[in-house]
Amino acid sequence: MFSQILLFTINLLPANVGHFLCCLIKSIPVLKDFLPSPQQEPVTFSNRKGLQCISPLMRSVEETPQPILTKVKGHIPKWLNGSLLRNGPGKFEFGEEKFNHWFDGMALLHQFQLENGIVTYRSKFLQSDSYVTNSRHNRIVVSEFGTLAMPDPCKSIFGRFISWFEMPRPTDNCSVNYVVYKGDYYVSTETNFMRKVDPETLETKEKVDWSKFVVVNGATAHPHYEPDGTAYNMGNSYGKHGSSYSIIRIPPQNSNRDDMLQGAKVLCSIAPAEKMKPSYYHSFGMSENYVVFIEQPIKINLCRVITSKFLGKPIADGINWEPQYKTRFHVVNKHTGELLPGQFYSKPFATFHQINAFEDQGCVVLDLCCQDDGGSLHIYQLQNLRKAGEGLDQIYNSTARAFPRRFVLPLNVDSSVPVGQNLSPLSYTSASAVKEVDGTVWCMHENLHSEDLEEVGGLEFPQINYSRCNGRKYRFFYGCGFRHLVGDSLIKMDTETKKMKIWQEDGFYPSEPVFVPVPKATAEDSGVILSVVVTPLQ
Ligand SMILES: [Fe+2]
Repeated sequence: MFSQILLFTINLLPANVGHFLCCLIKSIPVLKDFLPSPQQEPVTFSNRKGLQCISPLMRSVEETPQPILTKVKGHIPKWLNGSLLRNGPGKFEFGEEKFNHWFDGMALLHQFQLENGIVTYRSKFLQSDSYVTNSRHNRIVVSEFGTLAMPDPCKSIFGRFISWFEMPRPTDNCSVNYVVYKGDYYVSTETNFMRKVDPETLETKEKVDWSKFVVVNGATAHPHYEPDGTAYNMGNSYGKHGSSYSIIRIPPQNSNRDDMLQGAKVLCSIAPAEKMKPSYYHSFGMSENYVVFIEQPIKINLCRVITSKFLGKPIADGINWEPQYKTRFHVVNKHTGELLPGQFYSKPFATFHQINAFEDQGCVVLDLCCQDDGGSLHIYQLQNLRKAGEGLDQIYNSTARAFPRRFVLPLNVDSSVPVGQNLSPLSYTSASAVKEVDGTVWCMHENLHSEDLEEVGGLEFPQINYSRCNGRKYRFFYGCGFRHLVGDSLIKMDTETKKMKIWQEDGFYPSEPVFVPVPKATAEDSGVILSVVVTPLQ
């Protein structure tokens, strides 16, 4: 009751005075507890009915090792030659045992070769240790994100009992993304393992362990690159004292092609808000001089992860949306590894893919796809995706929509900066960054879209003309609309006018769209969007 009266009183005051009082109250420990929890907007959910069943997209397929001709709908310019490489789950069971989560499926490598307007396709299963071992035993031997492998039934009772106490070994089922380090192609998941692959033949090559080169226990599947090939990534480091977030730099290609990740360095370590509860993250932002890490309230409960096997639960059960935490932005100087002292917070939101980041007038501008509810990781259970009728509608309507948002992070926040004032000097964005009494900076976003984006289910899987625009001020980005649990349209968004163009076809886009830069880029960040509907082979 007291907090309601307090909030009501503050709301009656002029905005600046109200904000100042809020800041003041937060700085007094006794009164702080009476304030409501972090400001939360209503979460945008949909209310769609009669969704088409997508179960056929969620079944195992055969590989197509020899290139086959494809039917091209539309027109592929003749000058656009090369290979489009995609990756994703393609096998969901071994023998009688089935994976539970979409992300658990065995990695199937896809290659679309474009030559003179003709496209050929081939695919091969990644010959990961997980795939090979599961195939050999005709059952699931290696645990994945949402599936806990059962003990070997051929073991003795004592052996099976003991195996529950062994830590699950990380998978090398690298089904998330293709990445390039030092000129070599790899496929990546988010564990400490990657697999080198031949982009021409799709052959699986060496298994690479991040922890052999740098003190991390994994890395994201969305690194950033500089024009010279220098790569940046992030990974968690776990030790006896808990965890830390590490920003990694991998040098560009050198003369020795077999040295894998040699020379990789931890540029900066960041302490989590709670050592035993680090945040999950899927990507991060990078401007010309800074890396921006978003510490979101999707929390990895390390105690639960460590004991998950003993409790008979998959690792996914230890990762949860905990909106009692705010979202925090950490800014690191790429050249010095210095973590900037500014403490930037916003209301809790979840983000999986950043769009772009650039610097302007002493600020980092950060564009992200954001959801106001971060429970979607658990939505993508295969049993949910294979539903039909009302059950499927209900799953879709319980998933928060993702929308592109802009944040502004002022780089210099010292003691001379006034409290309660918007520190963003940028006239083209309504995103604000206000210093509070405790020295932190409260960031409010600008929507990078109009209301019509809600009608197409929001936007995810953002892409920009990377080599031309990443880290620079830009205008256009591209992504998938989500009027279903998988993308069903392609969108080009204008960040200045908030107007969008939509390509809508009958099919679905289960993979992220790919942006192919046009060699002579125009003022429009122009390029070609390629979308290929892959029909599962019988
Ligand atoms: Fe991703």
